[in-house]
Amino acid sequence: MDRIRLVGGNELNGELPISGAKNAALPLMIASLLTKDPLVLNNVPRLADVKQLERILENHGVDISVQGRRRGDDDMQGQRITFTAHDIVDTCAPYELVSTMRASFWVIGPLLARMGEARVSMPGGCAIGTRPVDFYIDGLQQLGAEIEIDGGYVNAKAPGGRLKGGKVVLPRISVGATHVIMMAATLAEGTSVIENAAMEPEVTNLAECLVEMGAKIEGVGTRTLTIQGVEALHGAEVDVIPDRIETGTYAMAVAMTGGNVLLKGANAAHLQAALDVLKETGAEVIEEDDGIRIVKNGNAVKPIDVDVSEYPGFPTDLQAQYMALMSRADGTSTIRETIFENRFMHVSELARLGAHIDVEGQAAEVTGVEHLKGAQVMATDLRASVSLVIAGLAAEGETIVNRIYHLDRGFERLEDKLSRCGAKIERVSG
Ligand code: EPU
Repeated sequence: MDRIRLVGGNELNGELPISGAKNAALPLMIASLLTKDPLVLNNVPRLADVKQLERILENHGVDISVQGRRRGDDDMQGQRITFTAHDIVDTCAPYELVSTMRASFWVIGPLLARMGEARVSMPGGCAIGTRPVDFYIDGLQQLGAEIEIDGGYVNAKAPGGRLKGGKVVLPRISVGATHVIMMAATLAEGTSVIENAAMEPEVTNLAECLVEMGAKIEGVGTRTLTIQGVEALHGAEVDVIPDRIETGTYAMAVAMTGGNVLLKGANAAHLQAALDVLKETGAEVIEEDDGIRIVKNGNAVKPIDVDVSEYPGFPTDLQAQYMALMSRADGTSTIRETIFENRFMHVSELARLGAHIDVEGQAAEVTGVEHLKGAQVMATDLRASVSLVIAGLAAEGETIVNRIYHLDRGFERLEDKLSRCGAKIERVSG
């Protein structure tokens, strides 16, 4: 298995291009199931999760074509991919394909809406919490679906072949349930309302894509979405938004190592809460025409408490990276995880690098240390893994990060991007 080897202590300086967002690309790709026409997506990142979802969509009959490189393209540019679901040949998403990635469960919405039936394997356990699917099932039932769970599969049918408009009140804000119910409602008969909807930028990216495809959606970017069903959707061309979690991750890396980096293509409006916190910790955050510049002089880091929350709050997907930063702060801070019940698995690995962290329930108390020291580490999820990378960049000596397949799921060309900014980082095979 590949590993990342890095030697800490270097400042980061230069330009670092931000890729298209994984968590926006995945639902947009799934939306292609809603129409016979081609859906063209620009700025799709090259990631293992994108590849896996391509396999799942191909199994349903989606034709996928990736546009080749053009003269003048640079190798950090996102991909332009066309997804055409002219004929859906299979409405089943089998265990072998779905079990490795939770988002693949989301195909249930478009399949049910367009084909009147879907059989999708339950996504299974996940390292960061139990992450059940009850909101999806209740929501689709409100749109008239008949659902039974059998042998680890969710079997869903729309009586008469078409879903009906309904009212869905989400018991708590859920990104995935909002994606799925919104997609399903676009082709339902009549009007649907989703209350307590997620308003993450990725949800808005999907909603705007659906509108481009002919869907009638009001309230985009708010907690209430009203969707008037139409008989069919058509093709469209849509850009994947820049990855706000990748942006926040590298911003925190610079805040830790010191330096001056332009995060090219990043959109500050998508992560204002995290950028505000970063400023309080002592980093300079400058919005420029082509991205966000992070400047950090010296290595004094002010401890600032953070409670993660749904958008527009501080994202749970930056909690581990922020903990790495706080592990070097001049004092103690408290970080509260409120979205997932088990998202502190990086704590014991950060401790291997010398961090002092006490966890009680959903709160972590982090007491900053003057120096972190390199070590061998590994992590069990994507964001936890990258928190170890950025901690290693600020640590003395060599850090080896094992199990990096997690990083490949969500960070495009991590070691290339960081080494272009002066980090000593390389991938070691085997
Ligand atoms: N929940 C339920 N029942 C449901 C659905 C969700 O109880 O049927 C709970 C979850 O267990 C969790 C909370 O609701 O406690 C919110 O989870 P949500 O549904 O919003 O999460 P998700 O849609 O499964 C997406 C991202 C995650 C990100 C969360 C929260 C993608 C592919 N995944 O997950 O990203 O942490 O929203 O913002 O978009 C990552 O990229 O590393 C990642 C985990």
